Amino acid sequence: MMVDSAAALVDVLRRFRLLETAQLDRLARQVDAKPANPRVVAQALVKGGYLTAYQANQILLGNGSELVLGAYVLLERIGEGGMGQVYKAKHHTMGRIVALKQIRKDKLDNAEAVKRFRREIQLASQLAHPNIVMALDAAQDGETHFFVMEHVEGTDLAKQVKQSGPMPVNQACDAIRQASLGLQHACDRGLVHRDVKPSNLLLATKTGQVKLLDLGLARLEHDSDDKLKTKLTQIGKVVGTVDFIAPEQALNASKADIRSDLYSMGCTFYFLLTGKVPYPGGQALEKLARHRWEDPEPVEKLRPEVSGDVIAIVRKLMAKKPEDRYQTATDLAAALVPYSVMSSKKTMPEIAAMALPASSGALAPRGGEVPYAVYAAPPANGRVPVAAAAAPPSTDSEVPVAAPVGADPVISRGSRRGRPATEGYPMPVLIGIAVALVIGGLVLIVILLSRPLVGPAPKERGAQRLSTEIAAESRPDSLVGSAVRTSDTVGG
Ligand SMILES: Nc1ncnc2c1ncn2[C@@H]1O[C@H](COP(=O)(O)OP(=O)(O)O)[C@@H](O)[C@H]1O
Ligand SMILES: [Mg+2]
Repeated sequence: MMVDSAAALVDVLRRFRLLETAQLDRLARQVDAKPANPRVVAQALVKGGYLTAYQANQILLGNGSELVLGAYVLLERIGEGGMGQVYKAKHHTMGRIVALKQIRKDKLDNAEAVKRFRREIQLASQLAHPNIVMALDAAQDGETHFFVMEHVEGTDLAKQVKQSGPMPVNQACDAIRQASLGLQHACDRGLVHRDVKPSNLLLATKTGQVKLLDLGLARLEHDSDDKLKTKLTQIGKVVGTVDFIAPEQALNASKADIRSDLYSMGCTFYFLLTGKVPYPGGQALEKLARHRWEDPEPVEKLRPEVSGDVIAIVRKLMAKKPEDRYQTATDLAAALVPYSVMSSKKTMPEIAAMALPASSGALAPRGGEVPYAVYAAPPANGRVPVAAAAAPPSTDSEVPVAAPVGADPVISRGSRRGRPATEGYPMPVLIGIAVALVIGGLVLIVILLSRPLVGPAPKERGAQRLSTEIAAESRPDSLVGSAVRTSDTVGG
């Protein structure tokens, strides 16, 4: 039920302990003395840093109870994927900021989905590496299951590229190098990730650290619980994301190994360098057929300044046959070292900062009491001055009273800014690129000449051929009629 009075708003804040008792008492006195629109009070609390815009909206919409999960208070929504929503949250007593992943409500009545979610939690908690998001806690509050991890202040690489365009080459190389180190750690513990993609790589703004995320589809190579394993892949039949999936994984997910993850890493690398997925457009099956038989548009065509050496690394990662790829993630990380040097004028944190919203939405310190007169009754013209005592100095001293609630936050988090990523190259590098291009051209001619006269099957024939092959495999793990994570977009 919508909160329709300031007193009701104070009640909700008290019930869910969203403010300290002394602050609440003071606020209650103010509300008693000078009745006001609950929206105006909420806006003032947001402006003063006592509530986030997300919290204020949820409370006004009558969803205050959903802001508290066990020992955690939700602060804002930071992501949404196949399994559920991800929030920035705060431990109530310890004050620690975390990321909290909650299983979606519509998945809760599905016992197998819950099992799968639990499994993600268990797998994640086995890993401890600077390039893997650290698992911290897991719990159930009523019907809701949630998983708590370290909060990475920054952005995922899908959002990063969407907002700022392709990454500078050496930053992209470094991101992939770091992610490979995390992947190797997972592999050493018998895990195949099976869903490596830009939105599952987080870039920390301050440190430039890249962290692998989301073991929702991971598989334990020597899994004792075979029955569960089969069931898990049957439920949603989700075994990867078609834009980034290795051909052999699409055919039979149980055959995926570290080299399949390395193929997905190659597609991710391609995306970071070009801003495009390797096989854009088309239906899921068509994309899968293209992964199997077609070469993507060459990186050098989309991004001429990428060196031949780096292009060769992308190609090797995206080789159709697993045996032609790097065989370990350590090998990949080693190959990238020479190209990951921070020679660009921009550092990794600077690049990450380019994708940050103008106002990062961070909470202002909440110490002390709610200042007197945090709000004022709305004047007849519908716009209210926000009391200066409550708000930090700001250029917009007025808050529209009739701000929409729901789709739009009471107070938005500010506009996003982004600049294209550029970097300069010294002459020797340009000469190197020219030489590499000539060599690349010659290699291409040799490859073309050594191909059979009949070229790759047209898209539809490829898709048809692939469905026949998949049907022949007909394993529970295969991608028949599934491809849930199919979108061209790289979210989730
Ligand atoms: N620990 C975290 N810190 C910061 N952002 C995160 C964190 N975990 C997830 N996110 C954001 O939420 C999105 C979805 O999270 P993910 O675990 O990949 O869920 P799904 O399984 O639904 O894809 C990510 O792409 C990222 O943008
Ligand atoms: Mg994800």
